[in-house]
Amino acid sequence: MNEPVYRLREVEKIRTKGGASFTLRVPELLIHKGEFLSVVGPSGCGKSTLLDLLALVLNPTNSSCFTIDARNKITSERFDIPSLSENHAAWIRRKNIGYVLQSGGLFPFLTVRENIMLTAEISGKSIDSQAFGNLVDVLGLGDQLNKKPQYLSGGQRQRVAVARALIHQPSIILADEPTAAVDYPTALDIRDELKTLAHEVGSAVVMVTHDRSLVKDISDSEVRFEVVRKSLNDTLATTFVINKTAPGSSNEGAPEQGISK
Ligand SMILES: Nc1ncnc2c1ncn2[C@@H]1O[C@H](COP(=O)(O)OP(=O)(O)OP(=O)(O)O)[C@@H](O)[C@H]1O
Ligand SMILES: [Mg+2]
Repeated sequence: MNEPVYRLREVEKIRTKGGASFTLRVPELLIHKGEFLSVVGPSGCGKSTLLDLLALVLNPTNSSCFTIDARNKITSERFDIPSLSENHAAWIRRKNIGYVLQSGGLFPFLTVRENIMLTAEISGKSIDSQAFGNLVDVLGLGDQLNKKPQYLSGGQRQRVAVARALIHQPSIILADEPTAAVDYPTALDIRDELKTLAHEVGSAVVMVTHDRSLVKDISDSEVRFEVVRKSLNDTLATTFVINKTAPGSSNEGAPEQGISK
């Protein structure tokens, strides 16, 4: 297999809020170019926290290795994520990462078309009108392009967020519950679009979902969580990986997903 885009070893993020503490621990995670990785687990287990770490939005509290292979000018280079400056992290994100936020994150003052084209513009990539037309057709947004997000349904807004993250075919796609607000056929279309970007374009795709049945047959690997409530105010979630495409590398005996006390 090719060199991993992300390498994580003993990465930890501690989040505290209102006296409660949540720790996400990632013992080991490798994410490759062309891989479709699903992230599956119950609400509050740390899926969005993991994605924010991968998106360079959150800094880890501790890590023994946390690197990203990203485009730097023309060539690709490996960067040590915890030592990146904020500006450099933002630059790498703009050039390499498409992030579908769980909250959508659309700009209310821009139309659907402008929202979708925004990431392409800031990544500096020109988009041909056929690629734009194909993507908005797949996502059923062709007749919504001149509307502002407030005039769309929740599912339509979510599809705009997906289009915005995918339009410039970034080498890394992070999608946080991109199918949560759409009907099942649309969820399948979104999933298949993400799979195409991984398997045909070669992007590294990480898709969060609470619906394992949607991704179980098509993911190359799956991240799950073992959640232990150490006390009322102290939770530890540890990830483990089920690798489905590399024979012999699955985590036999890995704990079952769920919350234990
Ligand atoms: N900004 C924050 N500050 C402090 N703690 C936070 C913050 N955001 C989330 N947390 C805590 O971190 C834990 C993991 O949250 P996270 O959003 O990663 O879960 P999730 O798996 O994405 O859940 P969901 O499926 O509901 O989206 C939760 O216990 C949450 O309370
Ligand atoms: Mg979440």
